[in-house]
Amino acid sequence: MTDQQQLADHGHQHQHHHHDGAQMDWDVMGPLLELGAEVQSPVVDQAAVWLRERVEAAGVPVVRRMLDIGSGPGVGACQFAQAFPEAEVVAVDGTEALLERARTRAADRGLAERVRTCLADLPDGLGEVGDADLIWSGMALHHIGDQQYAVERLAGALRPGGLLAVAEGGLPMRALPRDIGFGRPGLQGRLDVLSDDWFTGMRAALPGAKEAVEDWPAFLAAAGLTDIRSRTFLIDLPAPLGADGRAYVHATLARQREVADELLDAEDRAALDRLLDPEDPQGLLLRPDAFLLSARTVHTAVKPA
Ligand SMILES: C[S@@+](CC[C@H](N)C(=O)[O-])C[C@H]1O[C@@H](n2cnc3c(N)ncnc32)[C@H](O)[C@@H]1O
Repeated sequence: MTDQQQLADHGHQHQHHHHDGAQMDWDVMGPLLELGAEVQSPVVDQAAVWLRERVEAAGVPVVRRMLDIGSGPGVGACQFAQAFPEAEVVAVDGTEALLERARTRAADRGLAERVRTCLADLPDGLGEVGDADLIWSGMALHHIGDQQYAVERLAGALRPGGLLAVAEGGLPMRALPRDIGFGRPGLQGRLDVLSDDWFTGMRAALPGAKEAVEDWPAFLAAAGLTDIRSRTFLIDLPAPLGADGRAYVHATLARQREVADELLDAEDRAALDRLLDPEDPQGLLLRPDAFLLSARTVHTAVKPA
């Protein structure tokens, strides 16, 4: 099966594997994660420039070892290996199928010598991973039951003067105008509300789930890190959107459709069905006004020397 076929099939598999909506099936998410990370790669490129300034200011002139925690298919890990040419970058993840993708990707880019993979169940598997000058984790820590403990374990793996960067939160994706010409205006806003509720349920069902205010700077401070700073980076792909951007927004709305499921009213469900229909000229894959606008926040902090 090609990646595009797998992507199209993903919604179907997803429904069967976890209709409770709480468990993630990372194995089948490879194509979607890889496409998503590619489409959003400007965030990592921009963040890498800022992280370089931050580590240098913290007194680490050269990043020799970097960890990408919850790397998924290694798109970011390869970008970081290019941004930090003297670093060994270790892609750490709990899903072997995603690390396999990371190794293939690194080899295709001539980075096999510097992009390593490490299969580890977080946070306790971190013991095997070793220390680093720079640790990045993008959209992964919110899948761990005790986020404060996870941040503490990452802080523990930092070398003195090292930097921890956690990409969590930002803004939900927008792909369409408020009024799309059919259905009730504001569909994406309503899907966001339902996705937030799904997220709450997903977190509550995690092993060792611990309720905590989602305040990443506070998590970093409580882990003993200092000089805490956050910045937000934009993903801004205007209309007309290219094929990858379209495939990504289509897959994202398809996932939101599953998550929202019977909570949507008939009018919204009908509108979503049109948007997801690959043949409909007003669908996401064909309509001229589709775009991709989103933002990701990166929270950073330094380990005192
Ligand atoms: C949403 S993906 C993010 C992937 C990538 N960092 C990105 O930004 O595109 C979350 C990743 O975290 C990994 N993950 C989730 N829970 C984990 C755990 N407890 N231990 C190890 N990896 C985990 C998943 O396998 C998945 O690759």
